[in-house]
Formats: sequence, C-alpha cells, structure tokens
Amino acid sequence: MSTPPSPADRVRPLLRVRQVRAFTPTPVDPAALDAMADAARWSGSSGNAQPWRFVIIRDPATLRAIHEAGLPQTRSLATAQAAIAIVLPSEPGRAISHAYDEGRAAERMLIAASLLGLGAGIAWIHSEARPSVSALLGLPEGRLVRTVIAVGHPTEASRRPKSAPGEARLPRQDVVFAERWRG
Ligand SMILES: Cc1cc2nc3c(=O)[nH]c(=O)nc-3n(C[C@H](O)[C@H](O)[C@H](O)COP(=O)(O)O)c2cc1C
Repeated sequence: MSTPPSPADRVRPLLRVRQVRAFTPTPVDPAALDAMADAARWSGSSGNAQPWRFVIIRDPATLRAIHEAGLPQTRSLATAQAAIAIVLPSEPGRAISHAYDEGRAAERMLIAASLLGLGAGIAWIHSEARPSVSALLGLPEGRLVRTVIAVGHPTEASRRPKSAPGEARLPRQDVVFAERWRG
C-alpha cells in the first residue's frame, strides 16, 4: 500500500501560486475567467458585505491602455490575454476592511488561475492611474480599482524559478513560531 500524501504535500499546489508577469499569445478560455470570478465572489468578506464587483477584460485595447496608464506596476498587462479588475466602493472609513476583502478575492483568483493551468499576477493601480482606469472601465462615481489580476498562459521563462532554491521566502524559523514569539 502506498503512503498517503503528507499535509505538506497536500498543500504544495498553494505554494506554487506565484506572480506571473509574462504571457504567451494563446487566448484564455472565457469559461476560465468566469470560473476565476466565481471563485472570487465566493470569498468571505467582512460582515458578508461582498463590497467587490469584478470586471472581466478581454479587449486587447483596454488591456494595453491600463498597462500604459499604470506603469511600471502594470507591466504584466503588456502581454496578458485577459484581466479581472476588482472594483471597490471608495469609502475612506471602510478602507481597511475593503482592502482585507480585496486581498482575499485577489488571492483566490491567483489560486484559481493556477488550478486551471494558467498564470496570473497582481497589477497594483497606483492612485494617479486610478482615474484613467476608472474611465476605461466606465466605473460610476464612488468606485475605484486598485487591483487588476493579469491572466494568461505563462511563457516558459515566467514558469522558471525567479530566485535560487530556498531564497524566495524568509527562512521558516524566522517566520513561524511555536506558542510564543520566536518560540
Ligand atoms: C498587495 C500586492 C501588490 C502587488 N503589486 C504588484 C504590482 O503592482 N505589480 C507586480 O508586478 N507585482 C505585484 N505584486 C506581486 C509581488 O511583487 C509578488 O507577489 C512578490 O514579489 C512575491 O513573488 P511571488 O508571488 O512570485 O512569490 C503585488 C503583490 C501584492 C500582495
């Protein structure tokens, strides 16, 4: 009888969810984008408020316009074949709660893309670029986009490790403690 996979083995697919910034010209299946948006909208949110709305973008002209508006953070949109923008209410009093909810939805989309054999990456829309991106997406007053998830089929180069083995994250003993700080 074979040994069952260890807990570490079972969560390994999550460790493989990395930022992808370069994509091939192969189009993305629209059903994959729908599945990613569904994974995101099923995220938990503070008070189940679901403050997000998601705009699925496939028009190359819009993708490249957002790329240009938000450089250098939006460099992944130079080759992305699609993207999903997370739209949030612009309510300064709820900024932390909305950012937390946004992060959960964003991570779910990265995980969903990975499960679908796609690559995805966060493109952070800096504050000066937000009015242009809002106009491109036709957002109403009182909404903003801070995160756009670039999506596509990763290039061979972007599949390769970006750093030497063991160097992509801080050493485990510096980050994970037992019972007490630095325990
Ligand atoms: C809140 C947040 C904002 C980020 N903004 C950008 C961004 O604007 N452009 C980008 O290329 N990557 C962005 N990233 C991706 C990080 O640079 C990346 O996750 C980090 O370097 C670790 O690399 P890895 O995800 O491949 O392990 C962002 C990540 C987070 C969590």
